[in-house]
Amino acid sequence: MTFCHCTELCATDSVSLYLLHRLNPEDVQFSSAVLSEEPRPVQEEVSVSLCLEPSAVCTLIPEAWRFDCYPERGVVVTKELCEARNCCFIPASSPSSAARPSGRNGIPWCFYPPDFPSYSLVSINDTSLGQRGTLAKEVKTYYPADILTLEVEIRHETDSRLRVRITDPSNSRFEVPISVPTCHQEEPFGLIVKRSSTGAVLLNSTVAPLFYADQFLQFSTSLPSQFIYGLGEHRSTFLHDVHWNTLTMWARDVPPMEQTNLYGAHPFYLAMEEGGNAHGFFLLNSNAMDVVLQPAPALTWRTIGGILDFYVFLGPDPGSVIEQYVEVVGYPAMPIYWALGYHLCRWGYNTSDSAWEVVKNMRNYGIPQDVQWNDIDYMDQFMDFTYDSSKFATLPDMVKDLHAHDQRYVMILDPGISSTQPEGTYWPFDEGLRRQVFIKDAEGRTLIGKVWPGLTAYPDFSDAVTHEWWYDNLKRFHEKVPFDGLWIDMNEPSNFLDGSTNGCPSDSLENPPYTPGVLGGLLRAKTLCATAQQKQSIHYNMHSLYGLMEAKASASALKRIVAKRPFVISRSTFPSQGMYSGHWLGDNRSQWKDLYTSIAGMLTFNLLGIPLVGADICGFSEEPEEELCVRWTQLGAFYPFTRNHNPQDPTAFSPLARTAMKQALLLRYSLFPVLYTLFHHAHVHGHTVARPLMFEFPKDVKTYGIDKQFLWGKSLLVTPVLDPGVDYVDGYFPEGLWYDYYTGYSVRSKGEELPLQAPLDKINLHLREGSVIPTQTPNLTLWVSSGQPLHLISALSDDGSATGDLFWDDGESIDTYETNQYTYIIFSVAQVLTVDHENLPSVSVVASFQVLVNSQDASFTYRENQVRSGGQG
Ligand code: GLC
Repeated sequence: MTFCHCTELCATDSVSLYLLHRLNPEDVQFSSAVLSEEPRPVQEEVSVSLCLEPSAVCTLIPEAWRFDCYPERGVVVTKELCEARNCCFIPASSPSSAARPSGRNGIPWCFYPPDFPSYSLVSINDTSLGQRGTLAKEVKTYYPADILTLEVEIRHETDSRLRVRITDPSNSRFEVPISVPTCHQEEPFGLIVKRSSTGAVLLNSTVAPLFYADQFLQFSTSLPSQFIYGLGEHRSTFLHDVHWNTLTMWARDVPPMEQTNLYGAHPFYLAMEEGGNAHGFFLLNSNAMDVVLQPAPALTWRTIGGILDFYVFLGPDPGSVIEQYVEVVGYPAMPIYWALGYHLCRWGYNTSDSAWEVVKNMRNYGIPQDVQWNDIDYMDQFMDFTYDSSKFATLPDMVKDLHAHDQRYVMILDPGISSTQPEGTYWPFDEGLRRQVFIKDAEGRTLIGKVWPGLTAYPDFSDAVTHEWWYDNLKRFHEKVPFDGLWIDMNEPSNFLDGSTNGCPSDSLENPPYTPGVLGGLLRAKTLCATAQQKQSIHYNMHSLYGLMEAKASASALKRIVAKRPFVISRSTFPSQGMYSGHWLGDNRSQWKDLYTSIAGMLTFNLLGIPLVGADICGFSEEPEEELCVRWTQLGAFYPFTRNHNPQDPTAFSPLARTAMKQALLLRYSLFPVLYTLFHHAHVHGHTVARPLMFEFPKDVKTYGIDKQFLWGKSLLVTPVLDPGVDYVDGYFPEGLWYDYYTGYSVRSKGEELPLQAPLDKINLHLREGSVIPTQTPNLTLWVSSGQPLHLISALSDDGSATGDLFWDDGESIDTYETNQYTYIIFSVAQVLTVDHENLPSVSVVASFQVLVNSQDASFTYRENQVRSGGQG
């Protein structure tokens, strides 16, 4: 981080990459000149300080630029402890940080000095895609098994994607087993990525030392702005707080709360730059990790295993960053049409008849419902692949009845397989043992934990044999209960014990030299031992991949069984998940706050390539007030995945509330063609479905923090009510013309907040100028409404033009796009002034339809005279 000059290694259209070399003292002049281009006060400050005492050097480092040298939790960091690491010790001045003596989530008291040992670049060679070099470090630091020689490989994989891999050349280390498609400093090694067009520094790793010990890998970078998004799964605002905010990743079963690792792990962020450009960063690593945000602004990746393998996506707009990310991790699956209908679920239907009763009531009230779900109560003693033959005796009949009404059935499965049934009575366990599908403990015995059915073994989904066994179980059960989709829960994997019934060994995997800020303080807290053995690696490396691998097994089994697009919703997720499943946001509460945070959750998962996402409508735990449940059903009608999982369903409420909920769901059903088309674009291009406003208006900084409103695609603006007792809501309208969806009245915004009427039976919806959206008359199921004629709603721009599109296929066959079994229509509307044969001028709207039917052109044009101007046409 000190005196260095940069050698421009390679420059594509959009990025310059620099390898940095430390300079001799006589080069300092030059170095400062170069460094003064960087927006990093620390470098200039530090540059000046070479001849000062070490402690004086420390004081020159601004607080925001102090990188934590003592991140260990539960330690009061003293001067002695800190200096034993050769770091700077300055107890922070501000009272807020003084309250946190270890410095965590505050300004670090113990931080790296500028000359802290790091790696030098000792050799570098060009390769066909970039460069490969060797990094070396002379002194070992305080984390055991420090690796002194590393290999670095830089690849310009595409014009917009850079990949950097730092590996141990003498030992192979764990790498995340998902398939991904296929400019440094001498002392210390550093990497700077600059956007050529603006000079913005997207990445600068010279701000802190690089660590690469066996169980402690750390890489820091400056950030070009404080606008950072992604980094799931956490409960937070959509825009992350960079004020000493540590986000820990390690899949965990816990009701969502702030500052805690939750169900999934997604080491990806999107960052905005000045002027509206954006880039992304993805660390392909599945180990437990901390991501530290600090106000410099800067970010530190601190992981305890694997390798440093990261991608930089250059955008330059936020939407393209996500397209580039999704191109690497995998495009989300095209959902089966009914996945986008209304789903009803509940933990606590005591019998199949009571669930069936709700379905019938919904039909009687004319409330749309596509899917009925069952939670663990359908099972016999909570055991997978069984059903309670007395309380749920009519389950097969209920499923038959659902199918007869074009409705579908989804059931829950938990990964834990009961291990205590008498031999010969429970095929899933007996057969699993025979085929050796279960995760083993460090000594090679089947690891036993505890979940709903009591003691359980855990299938190892990293093994192909387990996938076959899972398929066999599903197939056997499907013959009894012909379910249509799967809800895979508890797959962090969750364990009511810590580790196993036998505890866990005591070694450096269970107690690593550094443990990230995982809830419970231990890697095994409410999950399996880190030392547990899976086919592809130890659980220490595989833990956060469990939900991904179970989803993959479930989706492929379902595809074989139903021969249609598989529908799977998973609680735990990892990058790539969108290819196999959607996600719900877990065990939220029936509170207004949870209604609000669900928007950030939904938007973040859209950034992470898992657009099929929603929160439990009306909340999972606690009883919602009626008003909250109405508002939640209105917002939930715009979750890409819409499921109520609360003891209260719409039929349980007053006629007023029930009607308002019904209206919201009918509205969703009428917009199905729009939603389905958006999912097509997610599947084919990696677009977001529920979209943050800033994606469409990246130059408007006022949109950067918005998480109370969102868009569907580029043009439908949703402004829900998130507070009790109000009949209006303030909504932000980016500059332009916006049409009220219900009345067609337009409002021209200068980029301002406007008050909107919002009585209990209304959710505000606006159409952006220049768009055409296809709708349909809604009905009780999407199957029925998808047979209705299409309507087009055009929201004309000032010049009378508008465009939109529609993707349409049979809704359920696999790979219809890939095999050309679809229709794709682009609608363009233009207002033209014509002069007729009597020389009379008239305005007509010319709508042209560019139609692709199974990739064959079938375009046509339609003209209508005397249109209404300025409204919906
Ligand atoms: C977990 C799930 C929840 C489910 C419950 C019982 O808490 O997150 O949705 O209802 O288990 O299966």
